[in-house]
Amino acid sequence: MTGAAPSMELPLPEAIPPPIPPAALSPISAATARPAATPPPIPAAARSPIPRATPSPDVAPGRKRRRAAQLVPGARIGVWRIERELGRGGMATVYAVVHTRFGKRAALKLAHSAILGPQFTAATFLREARVANLVNHPGVIDVFGTGSHTGRPYLAMERLEGRSLGAVLESGALPRDTAIEILLELCDVLEVAHAAGVTHGDLKVDNVFVLDQPGAGGRRTKLLDWGIARIAGEDDPLRGMIAGTLTYVAPEQIRCDDVTPAADVYALGVLAYRLLLGEPPFAAATDLDLLRKHLCGVPPSPRTRWPAIPAELEAVLVAMLAKQPEARPRLCEIAGVLRATRRQIRPRPVRTWIAPVAAIPPDVIGRPVLAKLPGRAQRITGAALGVALVIASLLRVLSA
Ligand SMILES: Nc1ncnc2c1ncn2[C@@H]1O[C@H](COP(=O)(O)OP(=O)(O)OP(=O)(O)O)[C@@H](O)[C@H]1O
Ligand SMILES: [Mg+2]
Repeated sequence: MTGAAPSMELPLPEAIPPPIPPAALSPISAATARPAATPPPIPAAARSPIPRATPSPDVAPGRKRRRAAQLVPGARIGVWRIERELGRGGMATVYAVVHTRFGKRAALKLAHSAILGPQFTAATFLREARVANLVNHPGVIDVFGTGSHTGRPYLAMERLEGRSLGAVLESGALPRDTAIEILLELCDVLEVAHAAGVTHGDLKVDNVFVLDQPGAGGRRTKLLDWGIARIAGEDDPLRGMIAGTLTYVAPEQIRCDDVTPAADVYALGVLAYRLLLGEPPFAAATDLDLLRKHLCGVPPSPRTRWPAIPAELEAVLVAMLAKQPEARPRLCEIAGVLRATRRQIRPRPVRTWIAPVAAIPPDVIGRPVLAKLPGRAQRITGAALGVALVIASLLRVLSA
């Protein structure tokens, strides 16, 4: 991906403002997601300047995209030789590399120097290696090495062949059954991550990689970019920052509340809107308006974009975007509804059809066809039809 959607951290201003009073947030009923009479104020953390990185709404609050120093093909990063650039996000550039001695092909994610500072150190960046390895699942990118190049930390990981889901969507919407397959794979990988105490925290189309060749178990996707994941029971190095991507960020991430697995369910809901209905639930002219909509906007009814949507799926999509984390459905419930929808929308398999020949009007297969056949073929066809008639009569007798 060309890095259309960086996810970045937004440091809080020095003087951290008091949190939003609960009363200001509570008018939003999570289940019904009705708008508050007076929209709650945006937390000051979110009000601090949020430069827009690109015109795309899939942009993390927090930073401008800065151009990293170019590393050209053939250049060395430690034991790795660069072949080409694979993608670029808000945190890093990812290169296709080859090990200079063993010839192993890999991807190398090199941090942009501009993101590093006292609040986001090299160790914070390299944490992604440990997090990704905590989640033992074939749908998680395999990170196997770390290092530093001219003061910039890097991760070495398996090189994937394919495109990010964001890049895939740029070529057009996916068929709904494919979209459901992808959502089911994400439910699966997130369930395992959550069971391991890991919340991804930055689920979005650019962090889902669609493989050219299905992987283990026929999987089509891998979940990338565990750089801002939270680990249950561990200090959150991103505490006091809004970390996430604007289009997908859950209300509690904006409020700087504790980020739990429910934040991934919210982002998955946004992603499901995008995949199944064509657009994310919320869009706005400014970043602040977008944050406000996450906090108190009503998601548009899925039916307006998919009139024949099964009622159960519609309800679960809206519930995933509940403002209160605890009101969001569990991943297994979401997966159950997605599976039921898949059964409903899958094209019916072509079945063998048996019916008495007499049931078919002669002008469909009878005389006009036979009339065109030469004498011998006419006899064979007639005999075949006779046999079919006998079999059909027998079947009718047997089934009576
Ligand atoms: N292992 C890989 N193999 C192939 N391409 C990759 C790999 N890892 C990342 N990419 C590509 O590079 C892009 C950026 O990677 P990644 O999301 O990890 O960077 P980031 O800077 O953390 O992004 P963000 O802006 O989301 O913070 C991805 O969208 C993908 O297209
Ligand atoms: Mg990314």
